[in-house]
Amino acid sequence: MKTLLTTLALAAGLTAAAQTANTHELVIQTKKVGAKIQPTMYGLFFEDINYAADGGLYAELVKNRSFEFPGNHFQGWKTTPNVQMMSEGGPFERNPHYVRLNGSGHGHKRTVIENEGYFGIGVKKGEKYRFSVWARTVKPNGTAKILAEIADTKSMGEHQSLAGAEITINSPEWKKYEVELTPNKTEEKAVLRIFLRGQNGADVEHVSLFPVDTWNGHKNGLRKDLVQALADIKPGVFRFPGGCIVEGTDIETRYDWKKSVGPVENRPLNENRWQGTFEHRFFADYYQSYGLGFYEYFLMSEEIGAEPLPILNVGLACQYQNNHESAHCPVDHLQPFIDDAIDLIEFANGGTDTEWGKLRAEMGHPEPFNLKFLGIGNEQWGKEYPERLEVFVKVLREKHPEIKIIGSSGPNSEGRDFDYLWPEMKRLKVDLVDEHFYRPESWFLAAGNRYDKYDRKGPKVFAGEYACHGANGKKWNHFNAALLEAAFMTNLERNADIVHMATYAPLFAHVEGWQWRPDLIWFDNLRSVRTCSYYVQQLYSHNKGTNVLPLTMAGQPVSGQEGQDGLFASAVWDNDAKTYIVKVINVGDKAQPITLNFTGLKKKTTLTDGKVITFHADDLLKDNTVDAPNTIIPVESSIAIDGNVLNTQIGPKTFCVYKFVKNGK
Ligand code: AHR
Repeated sequence: MKTLLTTLALAAGLTAAAQTANTHELVIQTKKVGAKIQPTMYGLFFEDINYAADGGLYAELVKNRSFEFPGNHFQGWKTTPNVQMMSEGGPFERNPHYVRLNGSGHGHKRTVIENEGYFGIGVKKGEKYRFSVWARTVKPNGTAKILAEIADTKSMGEHQSLAGAEITINSPEWKKYEVELTPNKTEEKAVLRIFLRGQNGADVEHVSLFPVDTWNGHKNGLRKDLVQALADIKPGVFRFPGGCIVEGTDIETRYDWKKSVGPVENRPLNENRWQGTFEHRFFADYYQSYGLGFYEYFLMSEEIGAEPLPILNVGLACQYQNNHESAHCPVDHLQPFIDDAIDLIEFANGGTDTEWGKLRAEMGHPEPFNLKFLGIGNEQWGKEYPERLEVFVKVLREKHPEIKIIGSSGPNSEGRDFDYLWPEMKRLKVDLVDEHFYRPESWFLAAGNRYDKYDRKGPKVFAGEYACHGANGKKWNHFNAALLEAAFMTNLERNADIVHMATYAPLFAHVEGWQWRPDLIWFDNLRSVRTCSYYVQQLYSHNKGTNVLPLTMAGQPVSGQEGQDGLFASAVWDNDAKTYIVKVINVGDKAQPITLNFTGLKKKTTLTDGKVITFHADDLLKDNTVDAPNTIIPVESSIAIDGNVLNTQIGPKTFCVYKFVKNGK
């Protein structure tokens, strides 16, 4: 009898789910609302690699607009005779070169300069483009005329011009002239020409062409489709400006934020750290105009709702390119670097009566940007790093205890540097540690428990650069890599008490200008595409919830361990939407029956409005492309739940997000 009763009682205690043969029962303990998920949890990492800034996010269409590319000041330009490079008497101290258009001396000959843009100049039919130029007449009296023209050099038509406008230069003093051009045809690889009309010479400088329709219509603005893609992720944090460009090949070519603010015409050119780096993906003309500078980064962060997270140089040049002590700033000479950090906080947060706060106001933003986080050093290693960071920490803690400091654990996810730097970061009491892991499939599959065992007392984790890089030559964007990122991210989510930020990297790549892949968003001169990895980031960000919920299978976290049949899972509670959200990833080749069992709900509580968002691709090695951008996208459908138990099945190689609204207390 006792046995029978026990059996009955046990049977009653069993969920409907457990009665389903061979199911994987995922138990979600709704009563144990756990750690808060930080608003910064899922964010974005931006670096000017792959022509992500000039030629990408920064909407300027003219390359070498200030004629400052070193070596060849005419790089990116074609010129006729009678065009002279000048370097004395220009309007901008930090960009001294400009161009003199002299009369051709012949009625049937033209004087022209023609810009090739970044892999061409992309223009759309009927859209407005703002051409601007600083100019003066060569002669002290009279006027000069120029024609600004967008042209299609491949056209078989009678005219190559897509749009053009004449400008009269009416002063021997430098002035800015502006005109709008509206192309009559869409062309991905147009050129910009400036003709001198007549024989009266003109000097020209800072030749610029922007779409009028930039993100939020800003002048000196950003490419609308690309910022929209960022905004659509709803990122919690925006990290900039890198990556290795924070360090520069040499200290002199590090990203120097002070050169990136103030009037755009006078921001000096900088050599990009990725200029000429690789023989297999070689680009001889990769420079930073600094047109996309710290003001623009802060403004965009604000507009897309992300916390700004600048990373500053710690006094070290890129250690990959320059790993010898003499390349770096000596520890006792760090003051200018420390000043950069202190001044940056003033630029972002200071009153308009302070030096840097005033500049921010003059640039158009009197209100503070509310900077809260600051990274010092990017991917550093060795004792060189903590000995420098320590000096920063001391000063920052004293002057700005409100700012959270982010240190680095180096370029590797584990190993000698990592094992040395984490204890050092604890010793220095930084707030967060930036971890980087570009790793193959095997690593992502095995790392499902990475953060479960982390010390809860030390600094928090910022997974600051990561991506699944396919093994065996599959280092390109494809669905399987994105799926494994999704699987790994259950581990971030489950450990949201210590993982406070995570940013996939790199963010952008021009289809013709990339040095590094995979990347989150690809673009050409007119179009952009969101990759499978993008959709994984978006699914996590849109469904991040407010608190972690314990989710286990047979008492264990579901993290792709032996016997778990390729399943990864995590659960959150969204207190704003009163919704339970469960993410399940099946990395295996077979469909798996699963049961979601929401335990601890009161009798009167019901789960309604069930939804499942399914992300799957039949061809694991494919991704979306600019030609076929919507091939692999998440699909949402309704799903019915029986009481507090969902019996369902997850297909092979599939990421599902299940959502149920809680009704009642
Ligand atoms: O994201 C590309 C590069 O990877 C970053 O510049 C660097 O931090 C890392 O090595």
